Amino acid sequence: MRSSFGGFALFRFGVAPRPRSRDHRGIYRKVVTILFCDVVGSTELGESVDPEAFQALLARYFERMEGIVGSHEGSVEKFIGDAVMAVFGVPLVHEDDAFRACRAAVEMRAAFPELGVRGRIGVNTGEVVTGTEERLAAGDAVNVAARLEQAAEPDEILIGETTRELVRGAVESEPVGSFELKGKREPVAAHRLVSVREVPERSHESPFVGREREVGLIHGAWQRALADERCELVTIVGEAGLGKSRLVAESLLAIDARIVRGRCLPYGQGITYWPVVEVVKQLDALPSDPAAAAAIGSLLGEANTGASAEEIAWAFRKLLEENAPLVVVLDDIQWGEQTFLDLVEGVALLSSTAPLLLVCMARPELLTQRADWPVALRLEPLPTEAADELISSLPSELRERIAHAAGGNPLFLTEMLAMAGETEDVDVPPTLRALLAARLDQLDPPDRTVLECGAVEGELFHRGAVRALAPEETQITPRLAALTRKDLIRPDRAQLTGDDGFRFRHLLIRDAAYEALPKSTRVELHRRFAEWLAERGADLIELDEILGYHFERACAYAAELGRPEESANLAARAVARLRAAGERAAGRGDAGAAVKLLERAGNLIPRDDPAQREVRVELASALIERGELREAQSNFAAVVDEAQTAGEEVVEWRARVGLVEAELWLSEQEIATSGKLVREAIPVLERHGDDLGLARAWFIVGLTSFWQGNSGDEAFARGLTCARRARSGRDEAQILNWLLISSWFGPTPAREALARCQNVLEQGSSRQVEAMARVEQGALLALSARFDEARQSWNEGVSMLEELGLPIFVAGSSQERFDIERLAGDLPAAEAVLREACEVLQKRGEKGFLSPRAACLGLCLALQERPADAEPFLELALEVMPNDGVDVLNVVHMARAVTLLWQSSLGEAEEHARRAVAAIADWDMPKAKGDSLVLLGDVLNAAGRTDEAIAAYAEALALYEQKENLVGAGRVSESLALLQAETTM
Ligand SMILES: Nc1ncnc2c1ncn2[C@@H]1O[C@H](COP(=O)(O)OP(=O)(O)OP(=O)(O)O)[C@@H](O)[C@H]1O
Ligand SMILES: [Mg+2]
Repeated sequence: MRSSFGGFALFRFGVAPRPRSRDHRGIYRKVVTILFCDVVGSTELGESVDPEAFQALLARYFERMEGIVGSHEGSVEKFIGDAVMAVFGVPLVHEDDAFRACRAAVEMRAAFPELGVRGRIGVNTGEVVTGTEERLAAGDAVNVAARLEQAAEPDEILIGETTRELVRGAVESEPVGSFELKGKREPVAAHRLVSVREVPERSHESPFVGREREVGLIHGAWQRALADERCELVTIVGEAGLGKSRLVAESLLAIDARIVRGRCLPYGQGITYWPVVEVVKQLDALPSDPAAAAAIGSLLGEANTGASAEEIAWAFRKLLEENAPLVVVLDDIQWGEQTFLDLVEGVALLSSTAPLLLVCMARPELLTQRADWPVALRLEPLPTEAADELISSLPSELRERIAHAAGGNPLFLTEMLAMAGETEDVDVPPTLRALLAARLDQLDPPDRTVLECGAVEGELFHRGAVRALAPEETQITPRLAALTRKDLIRPDRAQLTGDDGFRFRHLLIRDAAYEALPKSTRVELHRRFAEWLAERGADLIELDEILGYHFERACAYAAELGRPEESANLAARAVARLRAAGERAAGRGDAGAAVKLLERAGNLIPRDDPAQREVRVELASALIERGELREAQSNFAAVVDEAQTAGEEVVEWRARVGLVEAELWLSEQEIATSGKLVREAIPVLERHGDDLGLARAWFIVGLTSFWQGNSGDEAFARGLTCARRARSGRDEAQILNWLLISSWFGPTPAREALARCQNVLEQGSSRQVEAMARVEQGALLALSARFDEARQSWNEGVSMLEELGLPIFVAGSSQERFDIERLAGDLPAAEAVLREACEVLQKRGEKGFLSPRAACLGLCLALQERPADAEPFLELALEVMPNDGVDVLNVVHMARAVTLLWQSSLGEAEEHARRAVAAIADWDMPKAKGDSLVLLGDVLNAAGRTDEAIAAYAEALALYEQKENLVGAGRVSESLALLQAETTM
């Protein structure tokens, strides 16, 4: 049996129970380090020693342990029997709590012999909830610490994995394998703590970037000190990790003088003069004045006589002056005692006739202790380019994420860079987490509350939101000002009219503030924020996205807390918003966003809810636009089955139409069959009055008809009416797109077609439609030799499509570019564009667009007299060609005819040219027909069959004139004129 000694009586040794706030805002999730220390064999000890002596021994033991814990700013959480449980990080987190716990553990172990006990110690770091009524809520982190202690041998300290990671470099430890711990699934790795060292200074291995001006400032001060033979004080202030120490180290490289350094330590009594002693030791000399020498001697503990603070300051100043020219570097002076700061200030003010440079570095806390301290330089975050340089080795997406999170803080950047080197999944490294948490813990609680309310809104937040989330707070404006002064936030442009906006300086700070909130608080605050914004933010374009996000977060946390009813209710509110946002994103042609939003909505809808399938149909439609055709196909197919079983006819038929579309693009369905299948859907959808389904069905009817060489315009027009009635921007845009495409490829004369484009551009449709209008306008402009305008318009259109994340449409537009360059004459440019398009389409398994583009690339290469390069693409085009892809046959035959013509195989050339003409004979495509006839004319001409050549040219001319293809008409007229001149000669 363990000794039952313990409990309440022991509080007289010091730890008064901390006042606990009942306000939920006082409750935090934080990472702390827990230490358990227990006496070995106390039962036997209790038996062998007189009870009074035993009690005294334990009292001494507890007092000593508690003293050690306190000296490292930990706190004794409780006594359990004769075990001590101490926590580092409560009430305040320090960035080095894990190290403090290790130091305390080593000191405890050292104290065992003189206390006449043997003990064992376990140390572990992990997340706990603090600030609740029941003190440290028991949790995994606490249990593991207790178990490590139990697993330790007498006089042994075992530390957990996380602790070790945090103190790596500052302690000596050896792995002792893993322990199966009761109640834990995974074995727990443990390390034996052998000894502790000083915290090492940060490594400065990264290449030094930026900071030219700041280096100049330090050099300037040194120059002045030398020139004027006086003391210059330069103090650099900046938050943790901004690069104060590094800046100074780099600056001093170029200074040719003696340099000495001192550093203030984060804690501990009796170390007021620590940095001074360090400097004195490095100078390794005493001042010549015997009184001064004595004062320094007493500082070094060499003399028995004590010296006053004034005497020490004076003696130290003398010492520095006698060693001038000299640079004295004092780091981390925010941790310096007042006496030390007075000493530094004294040297700076009183020293004369000797060139001295005092460089001090401090975090901004210095100014809360000494508001009047002369700051020479407030260090700012690194500018974007410098920050990018530091992490330039990373792939671009990760680089952007890290740069964004780090906000120009080089420590954040380099730590995250190091982590990216070690693991795939880059999170915030634990050392940074501790640093950030410590910074938050130092805030006044009401300031912190304000910051947290902001963090719930996001990286950018509004004063109004804080007011809504912290209604009891009456001092919001001054608190925001205080947070701004502390460099945690800065004013930014508000997104809500009539409100004030603020932005977190570092996303990491926002995340740390947010992650410290208990989940129950997060549920509450997200919900309240969404309710507030719903009233307030009617004019926000992304209102639904934002509300959807906040309800979604609230829902997720409620679910994690095991509150199903609340989470279902929040899910429903999230779904309504996310769906609306997703459908709107699809409407403006932002398929990427639409997919994400609809997926999120879908995840929140229960399986048995019909809305689940409705959303999936919309999702699959957006997937088609994103070019994720297989995924779209399988979604549609699944919905067809499920909806049929559930008897949901409208959704079933919408999904059927979608499936046809997906398969059409995948070339897995014949064009004619597709048209027929979709026509079957029309009466069913009409019976239900489902305009949305009808819009899509008519669209496919129009498309298949267009692809079979007929005009799709009538079906498109019916689809357009339905889409408008259904208020589906996405479908309206899609149909308009194809109307535009058909105005290029089809018979509409150029001027009228251009007017159609112009009309779309002026009326302001969706961005996608606008983009397509620019692409087709480009091709149409080339017909009248306005090549510069043509290319510009095409480029603009394509960049818009790229921005919208529509790779299939981007790739599709390569055909128009080819048409432009065939008229303008820059075939290599067209070749590059076509090549990229084919690659993209091939990668996605798309075939409907690929086949004609591959054919065009083949033709483009053939026209450049590179038949061997052309052939593989012509074969690819034929291989993936839809069954009735006559437009592809037309281009392939043209390419072959061109090559044969170059090779003077005129018979075969003629055969291919004729097959090219024949392929689209039934099609209403005057431009393509004209091109084929011109080629036929060229072949015949080369064969000396002038009359037939004239006939072919004349037919082409008529078609070009019909389409108003002025360039083509001009060229063919010239050929005609030449031939006619020949025949009349
Ligand atoms: N300009 C820079 N170029 C490259 N690396 C830098 C730069 N500035 C700082 N670093 C690196 O970032 C890390 C943090 O810098 P440093 O230790 O100088 O910060 P600090 O401001 O002194 O922080 P603390 O207040 O915690 O002492 C170091 O690893 C340092 O080498
Ligand atoms: Mg530093």
